[in-house]
Amino acid sequence: MELSRDHQHGCGSPWKRFLLIAILLSFWTHPGFAEIFINTVPTQPMEGGNMLLIALNTPDDILNATWYSWFRPWYPAMIVSCIPTNRTGPCAQVFSPAHTTRKILTHWNILEIRNLTLSDTGFYSLLLDTESGPRNASTYIKVKQADDSISKPKISANTTVPVAEIDSVVFTCHTNATNVKILWFNGGVLLSGGERLQLSSDNRTLTILRVTLGDQGLYYCRVENNLTSATSDTIQLTVNYSPSQIFLFTHPTRSYENVITSDLNYSVVLNCEVSGSPSPLVFWFFNGTECWNRSVYVIQRLSPKDLGNYFCMARNSVGQQTSPSIQVRLPQDNSDIEPIEPDPIYSLSGAPAICLTVAGIAGIIFFIGGMTYSVLNRKSVRKGKSQECGCI
Ligand SMILES: *[C@@H]1O[C@H](CO)[C@@H](O)[C@H](O)[C@H]1NC(C)=O
Ligand SMILES: *[C@@H]1O[C@H](CO)[C@@H](O)[C@H](O)[C@H]1NC(C)=O
Ligand SMILES: *[C@@H]1O[C@H](CO)[C@@H](O)[C@H](O)[C@H]1NC(C)=O
Ligand SMILES: *[C@@H]1O[C@H](CO)[C@@H](O)[C@H](O)[C@H]1NC(C)=O
Ligand SMILES: *[C@@H]1O[C@H](CO)[C@@H](O)[C@H](O)[C@H]1NC(C)=O
Ligand SMILES: *[C@@H]1O[C@H](CO)[C@@H](O)[C@H](O)[C@H]1NC(C)=O
Ligand SMILES: *[C@@H]1O[C@H](CO)[C@@H](O)[C@H](O)[C@H]1NC(C)=O
Ligand SMILES: *[C@@H]1O[C@H](CO)[C@@H](O)[C@H](O)[C@H]1NC(C)=O
Ligand SMILES: *[C@@H]1O[C@H](CO)[C@@H](O)[C@H](O)[C@H]1NC(C)=O
Ligand SMILES: *[C@@H]1O[C@H](CO)[C@@H](O)[C@H](O)[C@H]1NC(C)=O
Ligand SMILES: *[C@@H]1O[C@H](CO)[C@@H](O)[C@H](O)[C@H]1NC(C)=O
Repeated sequence: MELSRDHQHGCGSPWKRFLLIAILLSFWTHPGFAEIFINTVPTQPMEGGNMLLIALNTPDDILNATWYSWFRPWYPAMIVSCIPTNRTGPCAQVFSPAHTTRKILTHWNILEIRNLTLSDTGFYSLLLDTESGPRNASTYIKVKQADDSISKPKISANTTVPVAEIDSVVFTCHTNATNVKILWFNGGVLLSGGERLQLSSDNRTLTILRVTLGDQGLYYCRVENNLTSATSDTIQLTVNYSPSQIFLFTHPTRSYENVITSDLNYSVVLNCEVSGSPSPLVFWFFNGTECWNRSVYVIQRLSPKDLGNYFCMARNSVGQQTSPSIQVRLPQDNSDIEPIEPDPIYSLSGAPAICLTVAGIAGIIFFIGGMTYSVLNRKSVRKGKSQECGCI
């Protein structure tokens, strides 16, 4: 078999470059008494990978080069011998007992072993017949076991509480595994790229542009190869938004002009429902002054000092929203406007309210969708609080 300097297949250019350097080095080193040594590329060969054994510091006057898979020349461990036809030209190879197709002599001083197995671990030696006598060198190679398992990837995000329609979020999947596929999930649903959802070419980062409420959820990444996979922890993405639309529910119900008419001693309930994230604080204002700091404001017995204008304001870290103003007044013309009879279910209004105050029971009214509402009987809730609210 003829082997030339260019005889080499399937190796990437870094290998080729290294080979060239190694070959040049082998020619340029001066002959003499310097020790021959065998370099390993890569220094840590991996199971399934390839490895080069490169003899350096070699003398000029080589007659014969023989590689062994043993710590000293020993015929059963002889792999191949190479007799250079001239100093720079091809050499003739003679295969020996320990030769396999995975072991390739690419140049007389370079032995390549492909598809490494753990049994390739051991000593290798090179015996050179030179005009000035035999020279030899040996080395020990430990083939590292390939690790098929993938360690758990780490996930990070540059924010977990972005503001809707404004902020962008970048998730990163950190893994040391190579030759793997990286997949992203939100709540178990595989994500693929889109207009606002961008995956980097290696899927290591997931960018969500101008997040929306629909982007909320539990994000995680999964790293997988053909054999196994590993999943990161999850990151909860909570999209923050300003208090948006305020829904006002009142008892008695208000007119289109946002006017509530009620007789004195009757109950008036003002409920301000609003969503937002983080959960907004809700304040009621009477005649421009804050009078209550929750969403439901109950005037158990309307008195003249409660008559006036109310509005609610909802506020969170993102923004705030104010309701229209509601006027609470007495029926202007008793012959014209009937005082609104309290709904007996609530047991709150008018004369019964006195009993309620005595009994110490108040109701909190939840209006659901403005259509239906129910009463939670809560004992001693806000007894008389509305009277002490400080509305002046
Ligand atoms: C090369 O060396 C090997 C081992 O020393 C030997 O078996 C072989 O005969 C030699 N070949 C030549 C042509 O000298
Ligand atoms: C070495 O061999 C090559 C290829 O056979 C040949 O081209 C070259 O001239 C030879 N060099 C010497 C110095 O003989
Ligand atoms: C290395 O292994 C792969 C698959 O495992 C195979 O296709 C290839 O032919 C092998 N190469 C050598 C030199 O044995
Ligand atoms: C190999 O070289 C060492 C010195 O480098 C020498 O002691 C030993 O005898 C040599 N072995 C053979 C088989 O030539
Ligand atoms: C996250 O990183 C992206 C890209 O660098 C940037 O556009 C975005 O503003 C960052 N988000 C936050 C909340 O810092
Ligand atoms: C990647 O390897 C480095 C160094 O060994 C280590 O510090 C880091 O935690 C590893 N990263 C992951 C995601 O395993
Ligand atoms: C990137 O993710 C997409 C969709 O989630 C997936 O189809 C693709 O195989 C992934 N590519 C890589 C290199 O992980
Ligand atoms: C994994 O599978 C894909 C296709 O099924 C194949 O192209 C690839 O070579 C495989 N990788 C390994 C390391 O077996
Ligand atoms: C309201 O109740 C008080 C006693 O609690 C009573 O003095 C007053 O007359 C009542 N007002 C009306 C308009 O019913
Ligand atoms: C609401 O008001 C009460 C007393 O009026 C006060 O103790 C409480 O801290 C206030 N809460 C908020 C969130 O302002
Ligand atoms: C609240 O404002 C209304 C209308 O401006 C006014 O008639 C009423 O006297 C005010 N009430 C108090 C307690 O200031």
